[in-house]
Amino acid sequence: MCGIVGILGRGPVADRLIDSLKRLEYRGYDSAGIGTLKGNHIELRRAEGKLRNLETRVRCHPLSGHVGIGHTRWATHGKPTEHNAHPHATDNVAVVHNGIIENFRELRAELKQHGACFASETDTEVVAHLIDSYLKNGCSPQDAVKASLPRLVGAFALAILFKGQHDLMIGARKGSPLAIGHGEGEMYLGSDAIALAPLTDLITYLEDGDWAVLNRNFAVVYDTQGTVARREVVKSATSSVLVDKANYRHFMAKEIHEQPEVIGQTLAHYVDIANESVALPQELPFNFNEIGHISITACGTAGYAGHIAKYWFERLARLPVELDVASEFRYREAPMRKGDLAVFISQSGETADTLAALRYAKSQGLHTLSIVNVQSSTIARESGTVLQTLAGPEIGVASTKAFTCQLVVLAALAVAAGKARGELSESDEIDLVRALIEIPRLVTAALASEPQIEKLARDIAKSRDVLYLGRGTSFPLALEGALKLKEISYIHAAGYAAGELKHGPIALVDESVPVIVIAPCDRLFEKTISNMQEVAARGGKIILITDASGAAEVSKDALATIVLPKMGTTFTPIVYAIPVQLLAYHTASLMGTDVDQPRNLAKSVTVE
Ligand code: F6R
Repeated sequence: MCGIVGILGRGPVADRLIDSLKRLEYRGYDSAGIGTLKGNHIELRRAEGKLRNLETRVRCHPLSGHVGIGHTRWATHGKPTEHNAHPHATDNVAVVHNGIIENFRELRAELKQHGACFASETDTEVVAHLIDSYLKNGCSPQDAVKASLPRLVGAFALAILFKGQHDLMIGARKGSPLAIGHGEGEMYLGSDAIALAPLTDLITYLEDGDWAVLNRNFAVVYDTQGTVARREVVKSATSSVLVDKANYRHFMAKEIHEQPEVIGQTLAHYVDIANESVALPQELPFNFNEIGHISITACGTAGYAGHIAKYWFERLARLPVELDVASEFRYREAPMRKGDLAVFISQSGETADTLAALRYAKSQGLHTLSIVNVQSSTIARESGTVLQTLAGPEIGVASTKAFTCQLVVLAALAVAAGKARGELSESDEIDLVRALIEIPRLVTAALASEPQIEKLARDIAKSRDVLYLGRGTSFPLALEGALKLKEISYIHAAGYAAGELKHGPIALVDESVPVIVIAPCDRLFEKTISNMQEVAARGGKIILITDASGAAEVSKDALATIVLPKMGTTFTPIVYAIPVQLLAYHTASLMGTDVDQPRNLAKSVTVE
């Protein structure tokens, strides 16, 4: 899950490569590098760590050349050091790669036997040496790539430069995404349209197995069989404006505060506010009455959105839902009924496991519906139906606004399913839609708890472990709260169904452990509170998140109570997500971690 870019330019390309890499840093930030053709040789600049280190290096040691490739890395094979940074090159060829070459050990051994000297621990370097071996045997660059690609097992998107070839770049994709950008007398390669946005809006998305030979004026795409393939040039709507932090310290803070607005935008897309009814933007190519079962698949935070939606589909539409972590879905050989519905949730639309699960579901004859934030993504392009979240670009690695917008779309879909199946009457629909329409206002009110949360975060920041508890839809929100905290503050945190605590995890509770109890005043409130009291009896430091009536009933047992506005009980997770996100954000921010780009993570996970 690295980002790659290539430019066949009419002028110097180094600065433009770096500019594109800035848009790709969400894919990884362990190291970065660029390579250009200078005279008759390939020149590289690479740096460990964030892109700004590479920028400094290039400023001190400028790189000329009108053709170049660039890379931002999320380390898979080999430490995130400079010598493992891409591009990887021999004297004749330079390569940037996103993906994993699974048979790199065999290839490396074979190439070493024939005299190749390796300078890194990466899987990628074998690609450079493999192509080089064919070049040395007299192949043209095109034939060398054609001969090399079938020998690579695994996933890859590649951009390749050749010594002395100032009007040539070759790209290839299998598993990992790659797009061609068409400029005026220039040609580009990029992991996505976002990287290419400042260069062009004319994009050709390569299909799996495609490879392409580019010069400044045209691009020829070949399919796996080596036959010339016709691939459309489409106009991308991706904005070239680099999103900034406005007046916030971090993108995450800005994105948390954008939620009233983006939830409102997303809602307006899925409900008819005037008529208080659900109005999906398109007709669905299946009938909810003919669906026996829904499977929901996603990763991480998107998976928790799916987990919450399971409660909604089952209750509102009486439709059984099976939930899968995407990396497990296609390997567990679950029985599937042709014609059932498979739902996929992804902010980026590029998550490798979710994409593979989508392809698997299609192969099993299921209807596929995806909820994605990036409209031009592979998952969006390959799904039977796409429902977009209108969260806008989410830059902070920890997902916040995309999560609540996913919940909004899922809520509208569950109501539509309930209505179509006759489980919800017209007046039920009106009540539910009214409850949804109120959410932006309630989220604004929830944001008002920020000063109190900032103070509480001082305590959390000193903890070693934090527990999150909830019942019903607050259970997956507890899981999300724990994930949010650990990924940006590096404090260990775990979420539990409140009723599960006494089956083991309660052993963790002592005076040093903050326990965040998510307890809206719903039909499970009393039960959650009993579990909270079990924690209080053992000295746990309780932070209760509830509304005014909940607080009036029980806040004496809590160290602190975060009071949220009163609301209907069905859609509470969309509003209760706010304090959960703020608590993680302020804890991490106090601890001084890299909130927007936490260690070891990347925004888009394009490897299995
Ligand atoms: C956590 C987080 C991740 C993502 C997960 C799926 O804050 O952002 O857990 O939710 O990697 O990513 P997408 O939604 O892009 O498929």
